[in-house]
Amino acid sequence: MATIDIKDKTFETLIPEEEIMRRVKTVADRISNDLKGKKPLLLGVLNGSFIFAADLMRMLTIESEISFVKMTSYQGTESTGKVKKLVGLNEDIEGRTVVIVEDIVDSGLTMEKMIEYLKEFKPAEIHICTLLLKPDNLKRNLDIEYIAMEIPNDFIVGYGLDYDGLGRNLRDIYVVKE
Ligand code: IMP
Ligand code: MG
Repeated sequence: MATIDIKDKTFETLIPEEEIMRRVKTVADRISNDLKGKKPLLLGVLNGSFIFAADLMRMLTIESEISFVKMTSYQGTESTGKVKKLVGLNEDIEGRTVVIVEDIVDSGLTMEKMIEYLKEFKPAEIHICTLLLKPDNLKRNLDIEYIAMEIPNDFIVGYGLDYDGLGRNLRDIYVVKE
């Protein structure tokens, strides 16, 4: 099994590229089938989803558009702690079918916040599509319709996901070695 070193950690292959592509195709086919005629707007969440979003969109067999947003973390006041804000939404999403494209849903807090923000702009429908889900860590009650793969609660990199900014370019998904 291939291992790689990033900074102070060693990672080993968890999901090879061929398997990732098969799973992305399965999700793309479901979206193409479910959202036919709705010309969905894919909303990729930067930075982690950029590779998944590109592959997913190319595998859709229906008309679609794409745009990217970001959830920025900044330190709020002491009482509010860490606050997340949605930035970069330039598209008018009122009345549209929106598909949020995420790299990974972990606790689900980011996704919950994101939906809260998007609802203010009155889209017709919001669907969630995530490459990865860590079901054991999910703390929010989210209706995630499109999940390419479920993984255990370990730190992973590759296919867009990073460790301290590095590893996004890896074609396979790697898990940290204990
Ligand atoms: P949540 O708010 O806990 O669901 O966190 C989701 C965000 O945490 C993702 O968008 C990722 O940026 C990051 N994240 C969670 N788990 C991992 C991981 O295993 N590797 C890399 N980033 C992760
Ligand atoms: Mg992310």
